[in-house]
Amino acid sequence: MLSRSAQLGVIKLNDLVATAPGRASPILKNINLTLPKCQVLVVLGPSGSGKSTLARVLMGVWPDVTGDVLLDGLPVDSWDRVQLGPHLGYLPQDIELFEGTLAENIARFGEINSAHVIEAARSAGLHDMILRFPKGYDTPIGEAGALLSGGQRQRIGLARAVYGNPALIVLDEPNANLDEAGEAALVTTVQHMKAIGRTVVLITHRPGILAVADRLLLLLDGRVQVEGPRDAVLAALQAPRPSTSAAPAAVVAAS
Ligand SMILES: Nc1ncnc2c1ncn2[C@@H]1O[C@H](COP(=O)(O)OP(=O)(O)OP(=O)(O)O)[C@@H](O)[C@H]1O
Ligand SMILES: [Mg+2]
Repeated sequence: MLSRSAQLGVIKLNDLVATAPGRASPILKNINLTLPKCQVLVVLGPSGSGKSTLARVLMGVWPDVTGDVLLDGLPVDSWDRVQLGPHLGYLPQDIELFEGTLAENIARFGEINSAHVIEAARSAGLHDMILRFPKGYDTPIGEAGALLSGGQRQRIGLARAVYGNPALIVLDEPNANLDEAGEAALVTTVQHMKAIGRTVVLITHRPGILAVADRLLLLLDGRVQVEGPRDAVLAALQAPRPSTSAAPAAVVAAS
């Protein structure tokens, strides 16, 4: 299984339905999606449309799912989590930092590979800031936490997500608290990940990041409203629509 993991990064969802206890209707409804390797998919959609749920489904951590969630052709929940873990990078919407040092937080509390920690921090635009702490990468998060802004915390989450260059990286609103410099670092990171053959799913409310997208997916009320190559989707969304669903259907068919 480990040798297969080198290929990881191809996502396929077949008739995916994600539910939650106490809800009358599913959160995600009949989602079909194929995302090839080395692509950047940007997911858009209003608050509550199911974007974060989709992120958790892709990470294999949403419990109530029917349909297929395939990573490299295999159900995500059939992979050994310990083996799979290093190949998945996830920046949750609500980034949590844990007791421990900055290096440990970036290295996900596994064995610390210092070169990878520095590479991840550099790509998140954090390295120089971390070196300004007297204890550098060994600064306990409790000491650093008080000194970290929301954007800096988010960058630590980004560094954690790209640590070790995982095959599939899912970033849930990574730019919510970033200034222009932070967003520029994010764009560079995503472009670098793509260039080295990684697959990136990026959820955002902010249109500034669309330039990095190969493909766009618009979720509305748990359904895929439209998905396809970025420019085709943007054209379809801007085109006047005489009948309600003609334009998105054309984009899906063309993709
Ligand atoms: N654990 C849960 N149990 C029940 N309902 C949930 C759970 N998590 C999310 N939901 C519901 O599912 C819907 C989609 O939530 P989700 O967090 O995926 O939306 P989102 O598109 O990420 O929104 P936002 O842009 O605000 O982050 C919402 O109605 C939310 O209340
Ligand atoms: Mg969300």
